[in-house]
Order: sequence, then C-alpha cells, then structure tokens
Amino acid sequence: MDHSDFIEKIARLRSERNVLILAHNYQRPEIQDLADYTGDSLGLARQAQETNSETILFCGVHFMAETAYILNPEKTVLLPEKRAGCPLADMITADDVLNLKERYPGVPVVCYVNTSAAVKAVSDICCTSSNAVAVVNSLPGDAVIFVPDKNLGTYVASLTGKKVISWPGYCPTHHKITKASVLNLKKQNPGAVFMAHPECQPEVLEIADHVCSTSGMYEYARLSKANVIIVGSEAGMLHRLSKDNPDKVFLLPSKDIICPNMKLTTLKKVYFSLKNKETKVVIEEPIRSQAQSSCERMMSILA
Ligand code: 13P
Repeated sequence: MDHSDFIEKIARLRSERNVLILAHNYQRPEIQDLADYTGDSLGLARQAQETNSETILFCGVHFMAETAYILNPEKTVLLPEKRAGCPLADMITADDVLNLKERYPGVPVVCYVNTSAAVKAVSDICCTSSNAVAVVNSLPGDAVIFVPDKNLGTYVASLTGKKVISWPGYCPTHHKITKASVLNLKKQNPGAVFMAHPECQPEVLEIADHVCSTSGMYEYARLSKANVIIVGSEAGMLHRLSKDNPDKVFLLPSKDIICPNMKLTTLKKVYFSLKNKETKVVIEEPIRSQAQSSCERMMSILA
C-alpha cells in the first residue's frame, strides 16, 4: 500500500470513530497534513482539552500523549508508536525531583512538559516553551527549581531575573545547533534573520533575533519582512513554514537537526493504531491526578 491508500483508509476510520488526530510540528510532512491540528506542546494540550471526540490519536512523543491523557482521563488517547520517547524527558526521575525539594525546601518546582507523569506529579507547576517565562513569573519568591532543560532554565532566568536552580538535562537534537553554523549561514545570507527554540544552547540564543516555541515560529515567519529565515529547531518545521510562506526561504543550521523519535510515526502506523485501537496511553492513579494539578495550574496561566 502506498501513501494514498493509507490516507484513504485513515479517513474512513477516523470519521466512523470520531477520532481527533493531533500532530506535533516536528512530525513527518504527510502526518502534519493529515492531522486535524498541528502545533506546539501547549496548543496540542489545549486541543486535547477542548475536543468532543472520545478518542485522540496523538502523533508526537510519549510525554505529549501522556499530557493529553493526564488532562482527559475519560478519553482514549492512542500513540501510534509506543517507542516514540523523549531523551530529554528521560534525563530526570521523580526521585531526582524529590531530592532537589529536600535540598531546597520551600522553593517551587517548575517542570517542563517534556517530563514523565511521575515527575509532573511531584512538581508544583508544569510549563511549555511558550509559557515558561509567564509560569515562572506567576510564582511567589525569587527562586525556582526548574527541570529538566538547563537551556530553557537559563533562558527563563535571563528574562525573569529569578534565581533558577536548573537540572542538567538537554535536548540532543537542539544541541546539534551551533553558534558557528548559524553565523556561517548569516554570513552567506546577508539580511537573514534567526529564530531559535529556547532548548538551544545559551550562546546560540544570544545571537537569535527571536526566541519562541515551535508554533511561535510560524507567527514570527509570517510577520517577518526578511526573505531568508534561519530556523533554530527541528527539520519538521520546514514543511509548513515553506508551505505557508512560499516567498520566503527557510534554512536549517545543519541537515541533521532531526528528532529520530518524532520521525517514528508513519501513515502505516497511524492506520494500524486507529484500526486496532493501540497503543492506549494510561497513567495510574494517584500519579495521574497529581500530575493533572501541575498541568492545570499551567493551563490557567495565559502566556
Ligand atoms: P514546543 O512546545 O515548542 O513545540 O517544543 C516541544 C519540544 O519538545 C521541542 O523540542
């Protein structure tokens, strides 16, 4: 079967079963085109909360589908590829967070959404790349524990002026973006602007014209007057950026800025996931409801 066969079969099943298909901005082009909504972590969590569909098929990585379930335990959340994890999320455990809390008593814990449900359950509030600054600013006191992304933690510290106690986690894909590669592209393309995801290293963010979430990049690109835009994030971004802005050129600092986990989801896997109702994402109580509190605190904050 080729792409069009799978697209046809998926179309039939999704409407028969009233399934909402969500896709992250890093998914393969054909998955992005198929989805009811393609967006960043916060946008996807909002869509999951607002839908009337009883089933959500999540084309993304594990923590994203988990977040959809944490917020909507009455719904069936399907992940087409159960091996689609996030190395950054795997860099911290709930025990690590409990140790930090013991070391810094009374300091609120902010966890990036790229964490397991167990880590969310022992944190005070969750955040995404699009609302991290607003979340940290909403907390009392002049210090926060911020896990697990050290780069996002450093970025948040620079904008909030708070003392940020970070965990040394990082996204291996964003770490491939170097300052030298961006400067090289800028030299080759005078007038090019550089937009970067806050998971990039501090020295890369320092030379960015704009720092934002993946969905923030679509807005920035749409409004930018530049003809050439350097994208400091994953390769999947280029699909919709180029489609929506045919008059602009989008460049990646290097060809290998690819998240292997995001690319595990294929049309074939989406079809079998729909057909066989697999793999269901379920988080046991009380972890789920404890994680829900930290996610809902975040959802109530307007970024
Ligand atoms: P966004 O929420 O900005 O899409 O980021 C998610 C992510 O995991 C980036 O690597």
